Amino acid sequence: MKGRFIAFEGCEGAGKSTQMRLLSEYLTSRGIPHILTREPGGGQISEAIRKIILDGKNSEMTDECEALLYAAARVQHLADTVAPALARGETVLCDRYIFSSFAYQGYGRGLSLAFLKEINAFAIEKYMPDLTVFLDIPSSRAFERKHGADPDDRMEQAGEAFHKRVYQGYKSLLKEYPEEMTAVDCSGTKYETSARIAELLRSRGLIG
Ligand code: TYD
Repeated sequence: MKGRFIAFEGCEGAGKSTQMRLLSEYLTSRGIPHILTREPGGGQISEAIRKIILDGKNSEMTDECEALLYAAARVQHLADTVAPALARGETVLCDRYIFSSFAYQGYGRGLSLAFLKEINAFAIEKYMPDLTVFLDIPSSRAFERKHGADPDDRMEQAGEAFHKRVYQGYKSLLKEYPEEMTAVDCSGTKYETSARIAELLRSRGLIG
C-alpha cells in the first residue's frame, strides 16, 4: 500500500522540527514505519542546492533563480527520497513543501502564483501531500522564540516586513486550499500542540 505523505509548514521558529520529532516518536511507539525529511534538502543533491540557496553570501540571487532552485531541489528530493518511501508504504513527514514556495517566493518575494504553480506542476500533479499541517504562530513571535534571525541565513535575513507577508500569505493559502492545508494553534506548550496534531491526523485517518 502506498504510504501517507504529510507536510509541515510555518514561519521560521514555529517549532516544526520539534513537532515532527514528537510525531515521529508517537509513530515509532505505534510501530508505524516512517521517514523524517526536509525541503530544501533530504538527499545529497538537494542538500547541495540548499547550501547555495541559503548561503548569506549569495545576496545577488534573483527571486526567479531562488524559486527555480527550490523547485529543482523539490523534484530531486521527490525522486530520491519521498517517492521510494511512499512506494515502500512508509509515512513521509516532510518539513516544508510546495506551500513554502507559494508563501515565501509568492507572497514574500512577490512572484506570481501562476509562475510558481507552473514550475512546480510536477509536484502538484503527482505528489500532493495527503495533508499539510500549518503551525500557526505569527512570524514576530516565532523569531522571538528562536532569539532573532541567523546572520548567515539569506532567507532569515530578508527582514521583518518580508516575514510578515509570508505569514499573511499562509493565511490566504489556508483559505485557498481548505482541503489541503489545516492550521494548528501553537500558542500552548509543545506537548499541547503535539496532541492537537496527532488528533488532527487521527481524525483524517492518516495515522493509526
Ligand atoms: P530552514 O533553515 O529549514 O528554515 P526552517 O527551520 O524555518 O524551516 O530553511 C528553509 C528556508 O527556506 C526557510 O527560510 C523557508 C525557505 N523556503 C522557501 O523560501 N521556499 C521553499 O519552497 C522552501 C521549501 C523553503
